[in-house]
Amino acid sequence: MTKPRLIYITGASSGIGQALAWHYYELGCSLALVARRTQVIEEWAQSMGMDEHRYVIYGADVSVIDSACRAGQECLERQGLPDIVIANAGISWGVDTSRREDLEVMQQVLACNVMGMAASFQPFIAPMVKRGSGCLVGICSVAGIRGLPGHAAYSASKCAAISYCESLRVELHKTGVSVTSLLPGYIETPLTQNNPYPMPFLLSANDFAKRAVRVIDRKARYVVIPWQMGIAGGLMRLLPALIWDKVTQGKTRKPRHLNKDLS
Ligand SMILES: NC(=O)c1ccc[n+]([C@@H]2O[C@H](COP(=O)([O-])OP(=O)(O)OC[C@H]3O[C@@H](n4cnc5c(N)ncnc54)[C@H](OP(=O)(O)O)[C@@H]3O)[C@@H](O)[C@H]2O)c1
Repeated sequence: MTKPRLIYITGASSGIGQALAWHYYELGCSLALVARRTQVIEEWAQSMGMDEHRYVIYGADVSVIDSACRAGQECLERQGLPDIVIANAGISWGVDTSRREDLEVMQQVLACNVMGMAASFQPFIAPMVKRGSGCLVGICSVAGIRGLPGHAAYSASKCAAISYCESLRVELHKTGVSVTSLLPGYIETPLTQNNPYPMPFLLSANDFAKRAVRVIDRKARYVVIPWQMGIAGGLMRLLPALIWDKVTQGKTRKPRHLNKDLS
């Protein structure tokens, strides 16, 4: 890998973010680790025996624009401009948008997964363009390729994240700053642990991180991990709406976050 020195990761207190943090740490990088539960990150870093001079923890709620931007600014002041920024923080909450009370749930999902991504990148874009280098990585999802039942909020948010990353990538063309849209399939983390449906090609967070580091290193534009889900995702993208409706008919839906029945 081409020696990135500082890696900024949101959602570093759990799952994919934590696994990515560990892989980059093992590669000798310094880390800027962001989440709301800073204590969880601190305890984890200590339990892993990480050198306290190689990481700084920033507390931020990325669904609040000022909070996400502030964490980025603090990183610029304390650690400098990262080589890689990974907007990974995300939530997957089921909704039934026929229920009034689920609209706030959807709003929160969009605030975290879409605005949180843009606000996590924002402080670094102009400085990276000025420097002429940097990698921005958006953790999207295969669930953003087509609408899935119960996932109206999550699929919409990840679809928006995919398009947002693509817009940013073409905007930053020839600036030296790359944008990678990384779409995980099913990864074993707290986010998926209560899913009541089959999760084909399930990967551990560690296996995902190992593959993701390689993909980020080669500045890929758009990658699905694992590749088997990439094939499934490619097919999903091509299917006409009529066929997609038939494929998803009768599939178990993501349970509502508010956990009331769907009657
Ligand atoms: N697991 C999968 O199968 C899968 C598949 C496709 C895509 N993804 C995406 O991968 C990313 C990571 O998911 P994961 O599976 O690792 O989930 P996870 O284990 O639940 O971790 C989510 C991380 O996001 C952080 N987070 C959530 N809301 C936040 C907020 N408002 N502000 C700051 N941080 C926030 C959490 O930290 P705090 O709670 O401490 O703030 C936590 O560190 C998400 O974007 C998810 O959509 C996951």
